[in-house]
Amino acid sequence: MDIHCTDRELFIFKKISHVAAGLNLPCYLIGGFVRDKIIGRPTKDADIVCLGDGIALAHKVAERFNPAPTVAFFKNFGTAQIKIADFEIEFVGARKESYRTESRNPEVEPGTLEDDQNRRDFTINAMAISLNQEGFGQLVDPFNGLRDIAAGIIQTPLEPLQTFSDDPLRMMRAIRFATQLKFTITDKTFQAIKDNAERIRIISQERITDELNKIMLAETPSIGWDLLSKSGLLQIIFPQMMALHGAEYIDGKGHKDNFYHTLQVIDNICNNTKDLWLRWAALLHDIGKPPTKRFEEGHGWTFHGHEAVGARMVPKIFAKLKLPQNEKMKLVQKLVELHLRPISLTKENITDSAVRRLLFEAGEDIDGLMMLCEADITSKNKFKVRRYLQNFELVKQRMKEVEEKDSLRNWQPPITGDMIMDTFGLTPGRNVGLIKDAIREAILDGIIPNDFEAARTYMLQKAAALGLLPKE
Ligand code: CTP
Repeated sequence: MDIHCTDRELFIFKKISHVAAGLNLPCYLIGGFVRDKIIGRPTKDADIVCLGDGIALAHKVAERFNPAPTVAFFKNFGTAQIKIADFEIEFVGARKESYRTESRNPEVEPGTLEDDQNRRDFTINAMAISLNQEGFGQLVDPFNGLRDIAAGIIQTPLEPLQTFSDDPLRMMRAIRFATQLKFTITDKTFQAIKDNAERIRIISQERITDELNKIMLAETPSIGWDLLSKSGLLQIIFPQMMALHGAEYIDGKGHKDNFYHTLQVIDNICNNTKDLWLRWAALLHDIGKPPTKRFEEGHGWTFHGHEAVGARMVPKIFAKLKLPQNEKMKLVQKLVELHLRPISLTKENITDSAVRRLLFEAGEDIDGLMMLCEADITSKNKFKVRRYLQNFELVKQRMKEVEEKDSLRNWQPPITGDMIMDTFGLTPGRNVGLIKDAIREAILDGIIPNDFEAARTYMLQKAAALGLLPKE
């Protein structure tokens, strides 16, 4: 084998080779599996292309395993899948036509291996490994994908305009692979993305967002976002992000370029978490800055309220990008809303009540918030960064102390609305809310301790002030 496979993979491939020989069907491993094996990345599933009926081959292969795996097949597309343990294998007949036609029922015209390799997206994805008895394990690499892997290059096998117009999603895939593999897209291929960017509009949002999430989960997502911006794709698929660009100057006063600041924040947070949603929160934390930007005479640039405006933008952006409208979106929204709070604590005396309030509002998302806030400390000035980080450590320390003392994480005030209604014989209404809020605020402000007796006494006082007496 020209690639290094595990014993189990080799066992499976030999079996396929044997079955295919019996059917007189030449077949090859192709695409991502071959690429990732050569690079030395972990592989998940394998694609096998055969010169003939892929579905028939899958059925025959499945019969040779005990127990025989189910064959999931799609007649329209001529593809079939089997799963052996957690290893997914997809079979397809070699084709001539473009990878994905826009019509619902693609005309699948059988082709040679070469035809099939021609219609693939990038040279590094067009390499095949023979599973034929003769030449088993040999690499078939007509576009020199091996050279491109060694050089860290992404380019299309054919004229890029042809490859991208066959399937415009490939423009996003080029950028996604460049990000995941830290490869460079060749000038010619990148120019074709720029020229074709508008064509991305015919691709479904789900497929686009799939690529965005893969970029977000890479080690250094900034590579992808920068390329999306430079290619013109970002302006089309996510204009609010593009609006972060630019540093304006008035009276010699400037502000930092919020686009590149955001890219640094996303890379920073990626050093500390693999969580996709914390990463999205980092990407969106300043999204409210362009609409709130003002120049104030004698003062400079301000972005007052950008955290609240940004938080309001989050559901719309999630809806447009077809990201989930569930608690993940709520988490991102909350972090965008609160992202200035931890660091603004350092500007004043850090009082227990301010710390308590933040712990209460952030609840169980406090660790994510602190991570975002720390990632947000960026400046070209090393001294500034050091000072901010020191202040930040101080806030962390104070939080730990207050938390240990008051255990406010996932905290609920000791008196519930039901208790208040019960005590005063009330039905749900304004007074119940007033009393409940007053108790919570008193605890957060440190006016009363966080315990039941103190809260109950305070409740009686507040109620009396409203002219309410206990039932008996
Ligand atoms: N392919 C293509 N054009 C596309 C999608 C896929 O030419 N728009 C081809 C490529 O040869 C690719 C193979 O189909 O290698 C398998 O596609 P897919 O499973 O989507 O991607 P992988 O390359 O395996 O990479 P990943 O699993 O990281 O998405």
